Amino acid sequence: MISVAIDGPAGAGKSTLARQLARDLGYIYVDTGAMYRSVGLYALRAGKDPADQAAVNQLLPQIRLRLAVLDGEQHIYLNDEDVSGLIRTEQVGMAASAVGANPTVRAFLLDLQRNMAKTGNILMDGRDIGTVILPNATVKIFLTASPEARARRRWLEYQQAGRSESYEEVLADVKQRDEQDAGRAAAPLRQAEDAVLLDTSDLDLAQSLAAMKQIIQERVGEM
Ligand code: DC
Repeated sequence: MISVAIDGPAGAGKSTLARQLARDLGYIYVDTGAMYRSVGLYALRAGKDPADQAAVNQLLPQIRLRLAVLDGEQHIYLNDEDVSGLIRTEQVGMAASAVGANPTVRAFLLDLQRNMAKTGNILMDGRDIGTVILPNATVKIFLTASPEARARRRWLEYQQAGRSESYEEVLADVKQRDEQDAGRAAAPLRQAEDAVLLDTSDLDLAQSLAAMKQIIQERVGEM
């Protein structure tokens, strides 16, 4: 079975690229960020501060997450509610980043993530897939881009969705999230030693996709 681990900072294009690649290669796509976002959403709805580890830990026994593919699209269910759309906000993204610093939350999601890697050829994206979750992944890619390039892409997506955040707000969020994700003690964002670095600052989607396919094919071809 082939596993492709894709890690990198917020807004590097991981989920867009991973989703498309999984489709092209016929692999199962596992979006681990959606799991952290769902836990973050649950905490917000419960009126808890996502950064309050003791409060969030108490909620975990109430949380059941399930991933399913519907019409070729990945959906995430939080206690049987499809929250795939609801989790795509800056507020939930920040909450996800806060709960991601919580080692108990990481342990709670670890088995779920590892078990998904046993179900077939997969492509998993996140922050610690190559370093912690799947240290023996067939291929590891560390996808990055400058904070400005990442903020611009995210801002354009928001514009298309009719949302009002300014570029400056999005850039500030990107930088804050980088600090939080790379600076935390529990499984900080970092490149695995055996990961291939791909900087997409100056690549468009098609070029990034082609570069990733080449990295995967080179590694898988060696097997
Ligand atoms: O990839 P994303 O933007 O959907 O992730 C949201 C947050 O979740 C991110 O800022 C950090 C956290 N996260 C994590 O800690 N570990 C992962 N494997 C995936 C996401």
